Amino acid sequence: MVDAIYIHIPFCQKKCHYCDFLSFQNMTDEIDNYVKHLIKEINLYPKYNFDTIYFGGGTPSLLSPIHIKNILENLNFDSNSEITLEVNPITVDYEKLKQFKEVGINRLSIGIQSFNNDILKTLGRLHNSEKAISTYCDARKAGFNNISIDLMFAVPNQTLEILENDLETIKSLNPEHISIYSLIWEEGTKFWDLKEKNILSPISDEIEADMYKKIIDFLTENNYIHYEISNFSKKNFMARHNSKYWENKEYLGVGLGASGYYNGIRYKNVCFLNKYYGIINIDDLPILEKENVDKNDSFNYILGLRLINKGISPTEKKYIEICNNLVKKGFLKNINNKYFLTKKGIFYANDVFLEFID
Ligand SMILES: C[S@@+](CC[C@H](N)C(=O)[O-])C[C@H]1O[C@@H](n2cnc3c(N)ncnc32)[C@H](O)[C@@H]1O
Ligand code: SF4
Repeated sequence: MVDAIYIHIPFCQKKCHYCDFLSFQNMTDEIDNYVKHLIKEINLYPKYNFDTIYFGGGTPSLLSPIHIKNILENLNFDSNSEITLEVNPITVDYEKLKQFKEVGINRLSIGIQSFNNDILKTLGRLHNSEKAISTYCDARKAGFNNISIDLMFAVPNQTLEILENDLETIKSLNPEHISIYSLIWEEGTKFWDLKEKNILSPISDEIEADMYKKIIDFLTENNYIHYEISNFSKKNFMARHNSKYWENKEYLGVGLGASGYYNGIRYKNVCFLNKYYGIINIDDLPILEKENVDKNDSFNYILGLRLINKGISPTEKKYIEICNNLVKKGFLKNINNKYFLTKKGIFYANDVFLEFID
């Protein structure tokens, strides 16, 4: 029985320079109409009881608390369910955060990225460090006791010292959860263009590795559990919803371009708004592509290894051989017939994962 739902909100105030997520800027007039269709789509699925509900984007905090209330009224959940909203600091103030809490949101994931104003400017973010901190404090004041902060590293012009300052600020704010991603250069973004024109260049692999090491050492010394390659949490505050992705569990995905995994099939919704509306208006699911899932495939093992303390137990000879080879090279360890990433494996995770792909 599926007990998780991802809800995609494809609108942003302004596109950030590095981001290729499916979202449109300057289209906030469309939100009302979008939410109406989203609710119709939700009601095309059976009524499940959701243990986790995740509003992601795009920028779900561009929606009003009334929109969120209307959506939640169409979903079944209980008082223990984890209900997360991704928040861009520039879209909220104390009042709005308080109202999000009142309509049922109980976990926030705040897209702060950095507390350094130069880095925020390079990234094309609309908030500054002061707004990042005040948003966090407003969220606490509004009663949120489960807050995650998104940070980025390996950003052009970012130094180890700038990163250390970000980590010190994190320590003083003391959030329950931190997601920290190294910058991925995505084709089609402003960053990509600037790289092509030699105006921006990636930082060196050595500095990126030093930064990742610094992050792991600092956060684990400060009582955060490094439970997933890019995620750290206080005890009992692992992201329940995202953990279901890494555990390869089923979830519904609704909204434009959303992905889901349901009844043994991975699917992806259409990516054009008119198409999305049109299909929903004839009471059909707006699914673009479907793929049957083989529980023994490489994708499953890659996801399993991301959860650092979970480990994988392949049964097929081909994957056992791959794992044993990686043990010999020091990237995996074998404990009680389960394979886990070693410290070295965590640093070279992408290379490790490539070994699983034919
Ligand atoms: C949907 S956004 C979070 C909510 C909101 N849209 C915001 O940015 O404040 C999800 C996260 O993905 C990360 N992200 C997006 N594009 C990335 C990229 N190219 N490389 C690394 N991280 C990226 C950012 O940390 C961002 O906070
Ligand atoms: S990082 Fe967030 S706010 Fe920026 S463009 Fe991507 S989804 Fe929108």
